[in-house]
Amino acid sequence: MPPAPAAERTARGVQHMFDRVAPRYDLANTVFSLGQDRGWRQAAARATRLAAGEVAADVACGTGALTRELAALAPGAVVVGFDFSQEMLKRARSTGGAASAPPDPPQPGRYAAGDAQSLPLADASVDVVTIAFGLRNLPEPGQGLLEFRRVLRPGGRLVVCEFSTPVVPVLREVYGRYLTRLMPVAARRLTSDPEAYQYLARSIGAWPDQPALARWLQEAGFGEVAWRNLSGGIVALHRGVAGS
Ligand SMILES: C[S@@+](CC[C@H](N)C(=O)[O-])C[C@H]1O[C@@H](n2cnc3c(N)ncnc32)[C@H](O)[C@@H]1O
Repeated sequence: MPPAPAAERTARGVQHMFDRVAPRYDLANTVFSLGQDRGWRQAAARATRLAAGEVAADVACGTGALTRELAALAPGAVVVGFDFSQEMLKRARSTGGAASAPPDPPQPGRYAAGDAQSLPLADASVDVVTIAFGLRNLPEPGQGLLEFRRVLRPGGRLVVCEFSTPVVPVLREVYGRYLTRLMPVAARRLTSDPEAYQYLARSIGAWPDQPALARWLQEAGFGEVAWRNLSGGIVALHRGVAGS
C-alpha cells in the first residue's frame, strides 16, 4: 500500500482544521464546487444501492450531507454518520436526522464520534460503508480501507467519493489553475481559514488517479472494484465489494 502522500496530514492537525472550518463548511463546499457537490453526494448514495433493513456507516460524515442523502434514499435503512470532529458532528446533529428509528437492539446514535481508522463497530456488522471527501484526509488511507473491510459483512459494499483526475487534458489544466490560483484567492475572502483551502489544493494534487485508487481498494481486499467519473473526473466514485 503506498504511504500517505502528505506528511502534514496528522490526525490531530486534520481534526483541528475541520473543527475550525466547520461553521462555513457547507457554504464553502457549494461555492467552491460551483454548486456540484450535492449531485456528487446523491450519485454516491445511489451507488451504494442501500435498501430498507440494511445498515450503512457514513465515515468522515462531516456535517452529514451524504448521511442525509443515504437516509432519504432508503428510509427503512439504519444510517449512522461517524466523524472525529466534534464541531462537524454538532452541525450534523443540528441540521436534522440522518436515519430511521434505531432498531432493536439499539444501534449507535445517528451520528457518533469515531475515527475512520478505528471505527467503534464490530467486525462484519454493516452492509454499506461510504466515505465522501474523507479518505484523502486520513493519515493512512490504506489503513482506513482495511478498517472498512473489517466492519463490512462479506458481500457488503464500499463507496468512496473523492476528488480525482479530470480525464480530458484541457479540463485538467483549467481545473489545476482553478485549484492553485483562483480558489486560494476566493478562500481568503470567503473563509476564516484560507490555509485549509491551500491544504485542500495540495492534497488533491497529491492524490492517486482513478486506476491507482482502484488498486488500493483491491490491495485492501475488495473485489468487483470499479469507478465512475463525475464532472469529467474532477470527482470519482469508486466501488468495491468486501470478500469473505
Ligand atoms: C472534507 S470533509 C467531508 C465531510 C463529508 N463527508 C462531506 O461529504 O461533506 C472531511 C471530514 O473527514 C473528517 N475526518 C478526517 N479524518 C478523519 C478520521 N481519521 N476519522 C474520522 N473523521 C475524519 C473531518 O473531520 C471532516 O469532517
